[in-house]
Amino acid sequence: MDNASLSRKTPQASELVADEIPEAVRDHPYLEAGGSQSKKKGLIWKLVGLAAIAFGVSIWLHLNFNFFPATSKAQQTQQNPEPASSPSASAASSATKSKPATPDNLLGHLPYPEAPASDLVAVTPDGAVKLRTGAAAKYQEMVNAAAAEGIYFAPISGFRSVAEQQHVFFDVKAERRQNASKRAEVSAPPGYSEHHTGYAIDLGDGSAPDTNLSQSFENTQAFKWLEANAASFSFEMSFPKNNRQGVSYEPWHWRFVGDRQSLETFYKAHSIKK
Ligand code: DAL
Ligand code: ZN
Repeated sequence: MDNASLSRKTPQASELVADEIPEAVRDHPYLEAGGSQSKKKGLIWKLVGLAAIAFGVSIWLHLNFNFFPATSKAQQTQQNPEPASSPSASAASSATKSKPATPDNLLGHLPYPEAPASDLVAVTPDGAVKLRTGAAAKYQEMVNAAAAEGIYFAPISGFRSVAEQQHVFFDVKAERRQNASKRAEVSAPPGYSEHHTGYAIDLGDGSAPDTNLSQSFENTQAFKWLEANAASFSFEMSFPKNNRQGVSYEPWHWRFVGDRQSLETFYKAHSIKK
């Protein structure tokens, strides 16, 4: 028997011990002699530690990447049986989100910023009536078209500063002994006039000056021409009969809505709830 065979036939002590213990029981940690209770505790603490780490990681993933959405798709479908692609559902949901805010108004008049002086140009030879550049160009085109048909406008008032409107509202109100509501039927409080924007203009009929700033202006040739043609030049009447703002009918007051800025000025966030 060589040394190698000898060593094969003479197992080490540790090998003997191992072989004598049934395999199923051999490696069971709880059965190891001595300190089995403390090992048990150690394992429990390891498991608790691992659970704590897993919990921390899941919180971090949720906070940073919304990794675990609050509701599953199935839960969402149950909460909202309308299919997501339904036009009525999406319209309703976007309407709720983009519901226009109720605009601030004062006695039915809406707030407007003053046009920058750099963008104002005269539309009368004496320079007394001014409009914003874009509106003035279109107004001039409209004047020329009307003149070609024998209609002559009398421009009465265009851009007005807040200070000028202060006079128009308060001083005239005092002269006429009107209360604020009565005055507001025909005049906007300062800061609330379309005339601040440089897009609004009061027009008379050059052939009927007695109708200036009067509802009888609606009987003039100039008014009839405006009614039929102003839209072609992107002008519209601001205060038609029974307007939603409750402002008195003003057939002489027209505003320009022919470019993005003017359109936004009068329509964006200015729709009054019924
Ligand atoms: N007359 C209109 C409402 C204004 O004063 O602006
Ligand atoms: Zn006006």
